[in-house]
Amino acid sequence: MPGNLIGERFVTMSFGESHGTCIGTVIDGCPPGLALTESDIQKELDKRKPGQSVITTQRKEADKVSIISGLFNNLTTGAPICMIIWNKDSDSRSYESVKTIPRPGHSDFTSLVKYGGFSDYRGSGRFSGRLTATFVMAGAVSQKLLHDVLGIETIAYTKQIGDICIDDIQLDVAREIRYTNDTRCPNNEFAKKMSESILEARRGGDSLGGVVEAVTLGVPVGLGEPIFSSLESDLSKALFSIPAVKAVEFGSGFRGCAMLGSKNNDTFYKDQNKIMTRTNNSGGILGGLSNGMPLVIRVGFKPAASILKPQRTLNLDTGDEVELSVSGRHDPCVVPRAVPVVESMVSLVLADHAIRSGHIPAVLKS
Ligand SMILES: Cc1cc2nc3c(=O)[nH]c(=O)nc-3n(C[C@H](O)[C@H](O)[C@H](O)COP(=O)(O)O)c2cc1C
Repeated sequence: MPGNLIGERFVTMSFGESHGTCIGTVIDGCPPGLALTESDIQKELDKRKPGQSVITTQRKEADKVSIISGLFNNLTTGAPICMIIWNKDSDSRSYESVKTIPRPGHSDFTSLVKYGGFSDYRGSGRFSGRLTATFVMAGAVSQKLLHDVLGIETIAYTKQIGDICIDDIQLDVAREIRYTNDTRCPNNEFAKKMSESILEARRGGDSLGGVVEAVTLGVPVGLGEPIFSSLESDLSKALFSIPAVKAVEFGSGFRGCAMLGSKNNDTFYKDQNKIMTRTNNSGGILGGLSNGMPLVIRVGFKPAASILKPQRTLNLDTGDEVELSVSGRHDPCVVPRAVPVVESMVSLVLADHAIRSGHIPAVLKS
């Protein structure tokens, strides 16, 4: 099962299964000299962990991280950094049926065929949203690296749940409040409405999707490599690696496709010594390279596949169509828990490119 590595110079591997012994990550290529403790990682993991509110899965996991290599005196050494979380609260009973009766919208059918029935299907195995905890562990290191060396910060938040969408977002407010409500929305009134709509969907045995928006500040000009490692290519790959992601948009995105060039072009001006653009329809990327403006990315999540409402599917043993109602503990909407995951994936890509372009040195200064 290859495909578990991402990055060229800041390389991250994700390992483990949802109901296996543990999940974890190995980072190869983090420069020596970065101040790092388990609490730096735990702080980010706590934003994603399950069972924190009525609108997420009720699986209870503390998601307590252990850093088992790559640190000495709370500084990175340059050696691989391995981090793990032990799985504590797995209940595999409701997954026996997925071997023969695949859930519509989930990975049961494709993984069964591809891996000849050998893959671990318990709790969706490698395809579970639980694996995004491994992305967040690695993401926390890249976020700290980008922040400490270059002052780069990524702020993601829930922009849309179902058909409830917030357009007027103040970044300073988003920075302060997004993790203080259950939906991770930058506006408490909208957060309440979003939360109610998730609960209503769950009461009806259904689920909702939505959009996470990420804004990255402080990116220098020139991150990204033409052509196949353009910043958009690498960010898209990383973001599409998050389960349930079905769309990634930069800047004016699909809206820009309907605009005139004269409206979509961002005109340049000089503010003191910095070259800026008056608008940011490009989302901070021109020619696959960062242009010094904030990166603006929207990530679209589909409604969670596992729902109580009965749906038609196939019994693969008999070939008969049957009705399936998915019980067990599931997120009625994955978007709130995906917000720190989006921040992590953006940061992993930026750290990799910042090292590749020499913006982050091979050894950090003490
Ligand atoms: C944080 C997070 C939590 C998730 N929780 C669930 C869940 O409880 N139930 C579910 O059916 N899908 C959940 N998913 C999505 C599935 O893992 C995903 O839809 C599935 O692996 C199929 O992949 P695809 O949707 O990318 O095609 C979650 C995704 C994320 C990011």
